[in-house]
Amino acid sequence: APQTAPGVSPLQASSGQAARPKEVTVLFGSQTGNSQGLAKKLSRQLEERGYPVHLSSMSDYKPGNLKKAGCLLMLVSTHGEGDPPDNALTFYDFLHSKRAPRLEGLRYSVLALGDTSYEFFCKTGKDFDQRLEELGGERLCPRVDCDVDFDDAAAQWFEQVLNALGGFSQAPAKSTVIMPAEAPGTAGQPGYSRTFPFEAEVVENMNLNGRGSARETRHLAISLEGSNLQYEPGDCLGVYPENHPELVDALIEAMGWNSGELVPVNKEGDKRPVREALLRHFEITVLTRPLLEQVSQLSPGSGLRELLEPGREQELKAYMHGRDLVDLAQDFSPLGIPAGPFVEILRKIPARLYSIASSLKAYPDEAHLTIRAVRYEAHGRDRYGVCSVQCAERIQPGDKLRVYVHQNPNFKLPPASDIPILMIGPGTGVAPFRAFLQEREETGAEGKTWLFFGDQHFRTDFLYQIEWQKWLREGVLTRMDVAFSRDTDRKVYVQHRMLEKSRELYQWLEEGAYLYVCGDEKHMAHDVHATLMAIVEREGGKSPEEAAAYLTEMQQQRRYQRDVY
Ligand code: 2AM
Repeated sequence: APQTAPGVSPLQASSGQAARPKEVTVLFGSQTGNSQGLAKKLSRQLEERGYPVHLSSMSDYKPGNLKKAGCLLMLVSTHGEGDPPDNALTFYDFLHSKRAPRLEGLRYSVLALGDTSYEFFCKTGKDFDQRLEELGGERLCPRVDCDVDFDDAAAQWFEQVLNALGGFSQAPAKSTVIMPAEAPGTAGQPGYSRTFPFEAEVVENMNLNGRGSARETRHLAISLEGSNLQYEPGDCLGVYPENHPELVDALIEAMGWNSGELVPVNKEGDKRPVREALLRHFEITVLTRPLLEQVSQLSPGSGLRELLEPGREQELKAYMHGRDLVDLAQDFSPLGIPAGPFVEILRKIPARLYSIASSLKAYPDEAHLTIRAVRYEAHGRDRYGVCSVQCAERIQPGDKLRVYVHQNPNFKLPPASDIPILMIGPGTGVAPFRAFLQEREETGAEGKTWLFFGDQHFRTDFLYQIEWQKWLREGVLTRMDVAFSRDTDRKVYVQHRMLEKSRELYQWLEEGAYLYVCGDEKHMAHDVHATLMAIVEREGGKSPEEAAAYLTEMQQQRRYQRDVY
């Protein structure tokens, strides 16, 4: 459900007296492209209503212009532990600094994207919303915070924004600019999307790891034939998974339901047997505070209410971590909630995004994925990554998966094919670089390429080894450095290899190379960034501040792009 920020007053009706804004500034801060997509859509709707729109990424926007912006609509997501997206960082820091301008006369509203399963839900959006007020801005309409399944909440915010703006002037504008719809299917064909995925056939599914590896990494080839779906290297494929049947059955048993009982699966009220609903439609592997609050309301005697009391936040967080609905049903039994009302409070199962590991130029009508099966033990039970383990254990060639293309404008090859590229991609982070190199091979690009790859063992975990070696021989790949972390006494990671080659690496940067990092965010991308700082300091003779500025500038020029998760 959308959440409207408390304590903010909606636009006064009297502001209908105010002048129609000369221009509406639409700013987005987006990591994987959701906020950006919504910002484009909103801009189109504004332009259709005759508003001149200035649409921009936060990283391209001169914050000094805010003073005369008049009307600002901001769409921004939050990542990891409450962090702004890469392309919002500089703007965020500036606005929260002493240098930020006073913004009296600015009317604004914020759409915040996030995930209620994270502690710092929508933090970036909340921070901006509060800061703009502190600086003297006035809310056009209240902020809306969206959960993973953001469509309805975003649509509601659009409507509020458009209504509030409508209050400025009833008169239709003279000039109406209508932008073409985004990436439409050819006439008559449906455009498959997140809300209308394509049922794609899996044509290949193999384990890339050798015998004896601790890892299982699947290579999936998915046929897009007949879908009219297109993608560019760097884009992702969204995959709708199914929950593990054992987990679904355990939940049905713990709740005492009859698996054939019909329950509603969407707003329209379509009904399916509860077993199918839990397999395909709802998320059952993540606990969030809003969910627990609703369960506790439906089951007042369960003891859950006590855990939700003020002052026990840390305990609640510790309980939710790594647990799922089966734990909840077992630990607070009997919940005694009938299946129908129960599924109505569940989140729709979200699609998983995987960086596409192929180029359409090399494999027309296919998308390849590199998926590592996530398996671990927690709270006394084996746990499985929903999508990754489904792909590893329950998907054979010939089976179907519901998919769509998720464009990622923030992870794209350089604008010219002779620009050198540096690619850092340990583990499954190597996936988009296979796409990059296929594309460069197919287009006969002359730019130099350098790949850093790492994993646990050379013998069993060298993903796509023969492909890199072939590209090295043919010159599609100019250099490759590998770090196998568990073949030696001391751990060797990609950033150690980078540091060993720091002189050449810095030379590449100075020659204008584009630098790409893909893979684990929390540890790898963080350590790689610190290593880049060290390299720029050492080889460029720069202070830490200058090195940081060097990397920030690269980011702003889109020469430092990250796809991290
Ligand atoms: P490890 O499993 O031996 O710790 C791909 O997952 C590779 O990334 C593995 O070799 C893994 O090593 C390594 N890795 C783990 N943490 C990392 C970090 N902070 N920086 C870079 N690589 C890391």
